[in-house]
Amino acid sequence: MASFMITTNNSSIPRIQVGKVHSLTQLCEEHYRLTIQVPNLREALPGQFVHLCAPANDDSPYRIVENKDDTHHEGWATQCRTPMLRRAFSIAGIVTTPDGILVDVIFRVVGKATRWMASLVPGDPVSLLAPLGNSFPISSTRKKAWLIAGGVGLPPMLWLAQAMNNKEKQATLFYGAQSSHLLALDLDHDTHCSPDASQAVLSSPSLAASNVPVVISTDDGSVGLHGHIGAAIEAHFASVAPDPDDLVMYTCGPERMMRFVADFCSARNIECYVCVERAMACGTGTCQSCVVAIRDDTDSQGWRYKLCCAEGPVFNAKTVVWDTVL
Ligand SMILES: Cc1cc2nc3c(=O)[nH]c(=O)nc-3n(C[C@H](O)[C@H](O)[C@H](O)COP(=O)(O)OP(=O)(O)OC[C@H]3O[C@@H](n4cnc5c(N)ncnc54)[C@H](O)[C@@H]3O)c2cc1C
Ligand code: FES
Repeated sequence: MASFMITTNNSSIPRIQVGKVHSLTQLCEEHYRLTIQVPNLREALPGQFVHLCAPANDDSPYRIVENKDDTHHEGWATQCRTPMLRRAFSIAGIVTTPDGILVDVIFRVVGKATRWMASLVPGDPVSLLAPLGNSFPISSTRKKAWLIAGGVGLPPMLWLAQAMNNKEKQATLFYGAQSSHLLALDLDHDTHCSPDASQAVLSSPSLAASNVPVVISTDDGSVGLHGHIGAAIEAHFASVAPDPDDLVMYTCGPERMMRFVADFCSARNIECYVCVERAMACGTGTCQSCVVAIRDDTDSQGWRYKLCCAEGPVFNAKTVVWDTVL
């Protein structure tokens, strides 16, 4: 989905609606892009997420399947095709069409819900609670943005890249993956791992409309720079020497990586925002299951828990108390 567009409509609060699968595309060995068509959606911004499950009718998430299972003492096991609770997915892009609004999510198959999502076909119903959470602040003064994604932290960065282009910012995407077969991004040309960060800037057809170059690293060196994305950031920073006062960094991915980016920015006085992911039950601030420790000088212990779903998932990196997070 190429163009960035913030949608508007007549609903003022996030609400549950049943959309239908527009398309499902496999991006690499374990990642898929799922595009869901919904009739309308409250205005949404990069950083926000959707909460997904199967609709509660004949395609109920509690649908029971009795499988023959000789290992079970009764000779059968009860299974649900989809889980009881919704799952959170960052919005990777939104486009308005005459037929409705197309919402993109990109997911890696890791468990029951994502296995169900990978089995969907066009026309299948999907229950969607959206849009949820806050969004990435976009600086009115700083002209450069580095977007740092690790693994399934990529989707919100793709939408943010489009937003940056719309705001005429100079964005660069840094994307770290374990290996080329787990890279959820298409590249214009094949590249071999390069020891030179300045040679490692690539382009992706998915980001062509946003005009955002990509620096890739893989843990096994199968594409892009060999090693951790943190090393790529350090090398690129040394190579292009950006003015810290003109730069904002945004990051989403494994917390170890986000902490590295937060420390990197803190040491250089660069503004930085992290998109934190927590296992979520309700997604709407009720169950209190998704806490993140955030500095708060008004609290006697100097920090308090905030809810990732309702007060996040985007936080200023310097406010996150990482030691209670990890
Ligand atoms: C705000 C937000 C945005 C997200 N965006 C995306 C996205 O764009 N793409 C994507 O693929 N995933 C995303 N996730 C993670 C996704 O919601 C979970 O991986 C989800 O649990 C998958 O459901 P499942 O039933 O397939 O796997 P589950 O059976 O629920 O989980 C499989 C494994 O992943 C672990 N796990 C579950 N949730 C998390 C989490 N939040 N952080 C770390 N480990 C977890 C579980 O402990 C378990 O080991 C996001 C999560 C949040 C909170
Ligand atoms: S998921 Fe229930 S409060 Fe955040």
